Amino acid sequence: MDSFLISGGNRLKGTVEISGSKNSALPIMAACLMAEGKSTLRGVPRLSDIDSMTRLLIELGCEVVRHDPAGPEPGEGPALNGPLDITVVDEQKSEARYDIVKTMRASICTLGPLLAKRKRAVVSIPGGCAIGDRPVDLHLRGLQKLGAEFRTENGNIVGQVRSRLKGCHFYLGGAQGPTVLGTINIMCAAALAEGETVLVGAACEPEVVDCALLLNKMGAKITGYGTPEVHIIGVDQLKGCEHRVIPDRIECGTFMVAAAITNGELELKHCNLDHLVAVADRLEEVGVNISRENGAVRVTSARRLNSVEMTTQPYPGFPTDLQAQLMALLCLADGISVVTERIFPDRFLHVGELNRMGARVRKEGATAVVQGVRELQGANVMASDLRASAALVLAGLVAKGTTKIDRVYHIDRGYEKIEQKLAAVGAHIERINDKAWG
Ligand code: EPZ
Repeated sequence: MDSFLISGGNRLKGTVEISGSKNSALPIMAACLMAEGKSTLRGVPRLSDIDSMTRLLIELGCEVVRHDPAGPEPGEGPALNGPLDITVVDEQKSEARYDIVKTMRASICTLGPLLAKRKRAVVSIPGGCAIGDRPVDLHLRGLQKLGAEFRTENGNIVGQVRSRLKGCHFYLGGAQGPTVLGTINIMCAAALAEGETVLVGAACEPEVVDCALLLNKMGAKITGYGTPEVHIIGVDQLKGCEHRVIPDRIECGTFMVAAAITNGELELKHCNLDHLVAVADRLEEVGVNISRENGAVRVTSARRLNSVEMTTQPYPGFPTDLQAQLMALLCLADGISVVTERIFPDRFLHVGELNRMGARVRKEGATAVVQGVRELQGANVMASDLRASAALVLAGLVAKGTTKIDRVYHIDRGYEKIEQKLAAVGAHIERINDKAWG
């Protein structure tokens, strides 16, 4: 198992290229199960979650080919990776096995496409995870309303469609608000259903919009995406298309905090600040300067950081996927900050680890009270989930002494070449193999 060793204290300065969005790419790859012919996706990052989805699509009868980078494509995005071609060659298989689902919950995104196109799907039930209970009831209720039938069998969701899915009106909101992957799953299935579907209470996240744009390029008729009411008129067939996934707004927000926490100066290229309005709002309140310059985003910060209140919310609110990273920054702000988690109320595993580095954070239910301290100290800490790990890396960048972060496979799921990107702008970070370290 790999670990990161970070010697804190360096100001970060330079340019970082933001990768394509993991959370957009995963459901988009699954949506390609519904297309006839080849789909070509650009900007898909190289991450272990993308490898898992690739493996799953191959098991489900797709041919998946990753090309070498063809060189820079002016104005379009980073050319770190070559395009990814996905072509369905065999429609017989319809099972997403536990082995893959347990490592990557986004496997649930194959459910809607498989039912719509192959009329049968067996998807292992995703269990809970480090960020809390993660039910899929809304996914199942929406697909049932479209006409799918479900039973559970040996830990699997077994779904079938007797004739063809039929359009419906469905309210998608849950107790914690809308569901991102649930909206995408049902929108995908409805794209091939008979008649019109109206989804009320749909998620408005940019990843939903990106998937709707892909489906429309394939021939779907979807309007209202990006609003809580999505209208879908079903079509008989979808055809492969070319699509570039949006920039990763969570990676971008993480590097914004990296600039701020090290009192540094970063230029972030290939990102979309319009997807980060709530994040920029909170960071500016903390004392971070964010400006658009020549199509990039420039981030610098004041020496003294202000404490703030922050609540995670569905888009366009502050994303839960950046809560841990902002908390790392607030650990060093003047005064008391209050962080409330409205999407995943138990997503606070980073609190104990940040406290081991000298932070003073107290958790009260779904809220964390952060008393700012003058400095953090390096320590041996443990990554528990993807975004909590990112928060520990950020804390390590500024902590006095050396921080060792174990289990960085969590971070490899969602941050492309993070140590290389950080080292290129001045961080002292290296990946070590635990065995070699002793
Ligand atoms: C997506 O997960 C992201 N994952 C998550 O990012 C992100 O934290 C989350 O959206 C919220 O923004 C991917 O895109 C792969 P939800 P998703 O359904 O869609 C409840 C990361 O770090 N709910 O929008 O699975 C649920 O428990 C990951 O990259 C139900 O009650 O999240 C939560 O409280 C972690 N019933 C709320 O809705 C359901 O059927 C929102 O979850 C589904 C969800």
